[in-house]
Amino acid sequence: MDKVKIGVIGTGSISNLHMAGYNRLENVEVIAACDINEERVRKFAETYHIANTFTDYNEMLKMEELDAVSVTAWNNVHAPASIAALNAGKHVLCEKPLALNADEALGMVETSKKNGKILMVGFCRRFGENAVSLKEMIAKGDLGQIYYAKTGCLRRCGNPGGWFSDRSKSGGGPVIDLGVHMIDLVRYLSGKPRAVSVMASTFDHMGMRTEVKGITKYNSADYSEYNDVEDCATALIRFENGMTLFFETSWVQNIKEDSLYLELFGDKAGVTMEPEFEIYESKYNYLRNTKPVLNAEGSGFEHNFIEEIKHFINCIADGAICLNPAEDGLELMRIIDAIYQSAKTGHEVLI
Ligand SMILES: NC(=O)c1ccc[n+]([C@@H]2O[C@H](COP(=O)([O-])OP(=O)(O)OC[C@H]3O[C@@H](n4cnc5c(N)ncnc54)[C@H](O)[C@@H]3O)[C@@H](O)[C@H]2O)c1
Repeated sequence: MDKVKIGVIGTGSISNLHMAGYNRLENVEVIAACDINEERVRKFAETYHIANTFTDYNEMLKMEELDAVSVTAWNNVHAPASIAALNAGKHVLCEKPLALNADEALGMVETSKKNGKILMVGFCRRFGENAVSLKEMIAKGDLGQIYYAKTGCLRRCGNPGGWFSDRSKSGGGPVIDLGVHMIDLVRYLSGKPRAVSVMASTFDHMGMRTEVKGITKYNSADYSEYNDVEDCATALIRFENGMTLFFETSWVQNIKEDSLYLELFGDKAGVTMEPEFEIYESKYNYLRNTKPVLNAEGSGFEHNFIEEIKHFINCIADGAICLNPAEDGLELMRIIDAIYQSAKTGHEVLI
């Protein structure tokens, strides 16, 4: 195959990490970029020496030589842009969350099947060295049966504003932004069980806390203070195999500091994958803690994206089986819909 020719839809922050991946691969050429912000796409194209720029992805998708696209625009653009690309015969790597909700995500999965094109969802954390090695441990049976998990991603003062905090563009707040990664990791590592019920609460007591001084806060590229999403959420998610997941997330919460954690409990061993990889078990009648030695950068943001992009290209060029199929993104959207529905109704939601 000639070089795989790529287009990028949405040239904001995260598209730079997609470029970091594409630029490392000799069999890839990024030939087009699109953003509704003309100046932004022009600068992006200048930075990365991309020949063709567009402000309408439908025009970009008319380029016959394009093989595939990265969809790195706002969440509400994921479904329409991916569906248009798949119908134009392009493979798609779509950022997380796959869509605004499960209905949209189902439409995307069906369009990918109808056209026989790859639709991969950007669950980049699966490519971290910690997740890869833990997945292997679990596959070899080291944890035994995983019956309980806990995960959370909490920020003290980190609502990015702009489209992120506008539900019509994002689909929600920290649940759909941060939670989608954490819940996916637990599901992926534990063998992708289907979720069967969710009991959740969301809270919106804190607002954006724009008055807070003394911290460096990440504001989205098109920052505004419009905010109609939750600032915090908690959920208990039960899976078909009996595993139960306790989950919490926040953008704004009165806590000491930001934190991210993921713990799995099996009948042979328990493990903390984040913030540090540690295994807890008992051997020869003694409790034992072990700590695998991992590369410091091996689970970092950039590393994960580079590996994710490499895998996407392997799927296109060498027929590798996609590790992040869109069906996994759809399953996550079902869980996220159930979290928001349970929070709204005050009742457990059966999926
Ligand atoms: N995998 C991860 O860990 C990770 C991290 C950050 C963001 N993301 C995801 O990446 C996506 C983008 O996030 P970001 O932080 O780069 O946001 P951003 O605001 O920096 O960039 C988004 C860009 O999309 C453009 N855009 C909006 N509508 C468009 C359209 N119809 N056509 C073309 N471009 C359009 C905007 O003008 C903007 O430049 C989101 O879905 C987000 O959830 C994933």
